[in-house]
Amino acid sequence: MDTLYVGAQASSHPLDPLSAGEVAAAAAIVRAAHDLGAGMRFETIVLSEPEGSSDERRAFVSTYDISTGDLFEAVVSLSDGIMKSWIPRPGAKPRIAPDEFLMAEKIAKADPNFVAALAKRGITDLSLVCSDPWSCGMFGHADEEGRRLIQTISFVRNRPFDNHYAHPIEGLSAIVDINRGEVVRIDDYGVVPVPRTEGNYSSRFQETWRTGLKPIEVVQPEGPSFTVDGYGVEWCGWKFRIGFTPREGLVLHDLSIKDGDAQRSIIKRACLAEMVVPYGHPTGVHPRKNAFDCGEYGIGVLANSLVLGCDCLGAIHYFDAVVNRIDGSAETIPNAICLHEEDCGILWKHSDFRTQETDVRRGRRLVISFIATVGNYEYGFYWHLYLDGTIELDVKLTGIINTAGVMQDGSIGRGTLVSPGLVGHIHQHVFNVRLDMAVDGPNNTVVEVDTVLDPPGPTNPYHNALSIVETPLLTEKAARRNGDAGHVRSWRVVNREKTSAIGHHPGYRLVAHSALRTPHAPDNQVGRRAGFVAHDIWVTPTRSDERWPAGDYVNQSKPGEGLPKWTEQDRSVADQPITVWHSFGHNHIVRPEDFPVQPVVHCGFILQPFAFFTRNPTLDIPPAKSSHSCCA
Ligand code: CO
Repeated sequence: MDTLYVGAQASSHPLDPLSAGEVAAAAAIVRAAHDLGAGMRFETIVLSEPEGSSDERRAFVSTYDISTGDLFEAVVSLSDGIMKSWIPRPGAKPRIAPDEFLMAEKIAKADPNFVAALAKRGITDLSLVCSDPWSCGMFGHADEEGRRLIQTISFVRNRPFDNHYAHPIEGLSAIVDINRGEVVRIDDYGVVPVPRTEGNYSSRFQETWRTGLKPIEVVQPEGPSFTVDGYGVEWCGWKFRIGFTPREGLVLHDLSIKDGDAQRSIIKRACLAEMVVPYGHPTGVHPRKNAFDCGEYGIGVLANSLVLGCDCLGAIHYFDAVVNRIDGSAETIPNAICLHEEDCGILWKHSDFRTQETDVRRGRRLVISFIATVGNYEYGFYWHLYLDGTIELDVKLTGIINTAGVMQDGSIGRGTLVSPGLVGHIHQHVFNVRLDMAVDGPNNTVVEVDTVLDPPGPTNPYHNALSIVETPLLTEKAARRNGDAGHVRSWRVVNREKTSAIGHHPGYRLVAHSALRTPHAPDNQVGRRAGFVAHDIWVTPTRSDERWPAGDYVNQSKPGEGLPKWTEQDRSVADQPITVWHSFGHNHIVRPEDFPVQPVVHCGFILQPFAFFTRNPTLDIPPAKSSHSCCA
């Protein structure tokens, strides 16, 4: 069995992602122990991250049989070439894989009823029809019971290569059983004329170009300030390891920062854990559009290969990503993760008006990023590390809005007209990040911080007294919290076992600037299946088997999984390894300017050191003056 292990590609650190050889070896070990036959597919093959100090390389494998729908989870030892466990997960539906995207379109186009529905709309050239594979959710239709489904949302090009999202085929969806390769049902809500006004954005259609843009070049004559060793990175006192998984994409492990002679920990593991994009139009195919781009598709498997000088400027280090395909083979996505540093304006400044002395320091940040394309949309995930200890996630939303036609009576419906006959419906992008915190050590506690105006009285004669009210969140139920703009609420992750030289518990403050609790109800898809949207933060004891805030298997999931269920246990989250889950996002009331391609909009959050250091830790950053700057 050990011949299955490709020793030459063995990784050098226990947290390194699986190599291509290890992915293939893991599939072979599982197949050798439990061959499911011709219908065997692999949802996930990923590093089973070691919890202790073991050097054994293990893989987690989720495999299923398209002929029965049965799904099993295995853990294999790559070091020993054996399967360690095999657990059935009845009812679980694997994610929709990139391999299945075009498969769903092909199945729909081969169905005579779908072809007839297209013909009814005057569409006969199937080569121009593009049917996107959307997850289906759980809507209780009897003919869908027990099946693994994709609903197609279709568009038609005017001519080859034009932007098909300008031309939605409104009111038509093929419900496809992707395991059995057949159409279950055609949902036809009536004919609406396809909008034919073109909305092209690509360079092949652009006839004139703006002039006057002079080049901006990033020059790093001595190279970057970071060093990379395998998946380990060091930059300006920061240390961390890069991870990558099919479902989460980029993962940051063991993030720490130098303070004097000490290397102090901040986060054990950080990643995107889930996201959901619910649409707010109530008729036709649209209520079924509630895409969990992380849990139902996998944001990592959809990562782009980034292009030097276009996606990324400066001195770039790229990491490849290795993901599995559904046949169990490995696919390497070249240049999936970009590492670079960039100037970010001034770090700090002061002019002493008496001495006329001015001190100013340039700020810079390290950027670790990847971009995923999920059908019509692009998500860029940019982690920023700053010289002063600040950590930021900046999510960039771009790509093409999911368009719709007008309603049958010609009205717009719940959205914005972006072009004649073409509508962008209201929707949200709600993200949830999983932050396994380790501020100055493993045992942390979250404290809620409100700013409150004291009542007037003898000790507050001018009614200006502000109290900073700090409330430790000690159990899971107490730690389901929402923002409060009236009290400028924030949260701080502190280590109550440590005290600084000036008497503070070291901490990191969560600046939840994009908190978004999408309006939802207990009986709709979001309320039932994306319970994490109900609170801006949740805190749980860190558990390796509690990774997915909307449940382990989100595709066609049942209600109540993940954070709502775990936190019902109301476990202690005080002075122990804790995970902070933060929900945030973008409420997307579509603008005409978002079409035909959306300029980047941002959302995210910031983690700032708060009494982690005893003062500004950047006084030793030397003054710098760019020799390439000039007076224009
Ligand atoms: Co949007």
